[in-house]
Amino acid sequence: MANQGFDVVVIGTGPGGYVAAIRCAQLGLAVATVEDDRPGGVCLNWGCIPTKALLRNAEIVDLFHRADEFGITVGEWRADYAQAIQRSRRVADRMAKGVEFLFRKNKITLLAGVGSLKSKSIVEVKGKGGVEILEARRAVILATGSEPKSLPGVAIDETQVISSNGAVRTETRPASLVVIGAGAVGMEFADVYRAYGVEVTVLEALPRVLPLEDEEASAQIARLFTRRGVTVRTGVKVVKVTPGKGSVAVEIDAEGTRETLTAAQVLMAVGRAARTKGLGLEALGVTMDRGLVTVGPTMETAVKGIFAVGDVTGRQMLAHKAMAEGVVAAEAIAGRSPRPVDYGNVPSCTYCRPQVASIGLSEAAAKADGREVSVGRFPFTANGKAVALGETEGFLKVVADKRTGEILGVHIVGPEATELIHEFAVGRTLEATLEEIIHTIHAHPTLSEASLEATLAALGQAIHI
Ligand code: NAI
Repeated sequence: MANQGFDVVVIGTGPGGYVAAIRCAQLGLAVATVEDDRPGGVCLNWGCIPTKALLRNAEIVDLFHRADEFGITVGEWRADYAQAIQRSRRVADRMAKGVEFLFRKNKITLLAGVGSLKSKSIVEVKGKGGVEILEARRAVILATGSEPKSLPGVAIDETQVISSNGAVRTETRPASLVVIGAGAVGMEFADVYRAYGVEVTVLEALPRVLPLEDEEASAQIARLFTRRGVTVRTGVKVVKVTPGKGSVAVEIDAEGTRETLTAAQVLMAVGRAARTKGLGLEALGVTMDRGLVTVGPTMETAVKGIFAVGDVTGRQMLAHKAMAEGVVAAEAIAGRSPRPVDYGNVPSCTYCRPQVASIGLSEAAAKADGREVSVGRFPFTANGKAVALGETEGFLKVVADKRTGEILGVHIVGPEATELIHEFAVGRTLEATLEEIIHTIHAHPTLSEASLEATLAALGQAIHI
């Protein structure tokens, strides 16, 4: 006999779960959420939000170093890393409280504890105060997210070998750090630690950093990080990680040559694994593929009435993708016919400096797809606003279908790249062509003019370059 009944029970309150819960409530459904950590999940508490606060600190520290350039003389100053972490915790706490507020506003019940499925409509919640049984009359949504992966045989102790979870909580910084993996986590933390004076080495197994980005974006970022004093090594296989007294030894294979690097700390940034253990999925017949829950276009799993959203379903492990999936699941459960998530039009954003953002296909992928492409580029050195800001590193690149003008992909390295990308996200949703972008007046002076100019360049009509 269930203690309480709801229309929908959502397990996990990260961006996928909390958005799904709110949308369900908006559509008139009675909703309970279950959370074994803090409301807001990894994104708000240990991921996206606190790291953005830390990156802002890093940016300010770098601006202090550049004070002369702006004609500002600063006396003695000190950047206190512990205070940067404390600030990021306050930011995260504030955002997590925001989720609790939204739950109250939408009359969503929040239960603290570990949720698992006892049947397709019964959720058990093991909390500090005991066990509670919830009935989900219409559906259960799994939104349990992911956790950092490690390399085989390497334990993350959050002291010498840390993950992003440990990094956002640790108020001390090491003298030296080896970052394993040059994806978003690796590059964002490399940026923060370098700004605070840490000797950083980034190791990437693939031939380039941010390997999912366009090759030109990877090359530019590798160059700029190197200039800032980060040692970037690509095409490097990590063979062994051995924590010792006061330092960690990292044995690598660099094109057949064995080498051992030592650093005070290692940051493991080799990806994340879906959290599915202990949910009782196998027994119910929920199908999985390589550790990820398989879902259809409405986010329903192989078991009717059990839905899954966010990192637990894999594909791109991004908060905004999770939110979009949460909306689709909620609307499907409420009996609507939601438009499925367009996985080909999800912006990818890395908040290192300069920022990197992209949407759609890289130039190489477009060509591999058999498209004849026209490419337009515009460097921020030729953009008035960027020059005025003193942020001229980077470029904006548009890849279009030569015949139709369809915008196949956009790649940005530069100031506010993660904001600029949305012009093209909307454009692609509306199936805009190059012609439509160039007939849109872009205010002057703005960074957005780079979008216009790169689009003009793809048509051979750039004015300012
Ligand atoms: P990731 O999968 O994006 O990158 C991991 C990198 O590690 C890859 O480039 C991979 O080639 C490399 N790697 C794997 N094994 C290695 C080895 N043995 N030696 C050297 N390199 C190795 O994973 P990451 O950066 O940990 O992020 C996890 C997830 O979280 C990703 O899906 C990412 O997109 C997401 N995320 C997104 C952020 C954003 O949007 N700004 C920020 C942080 C994470």
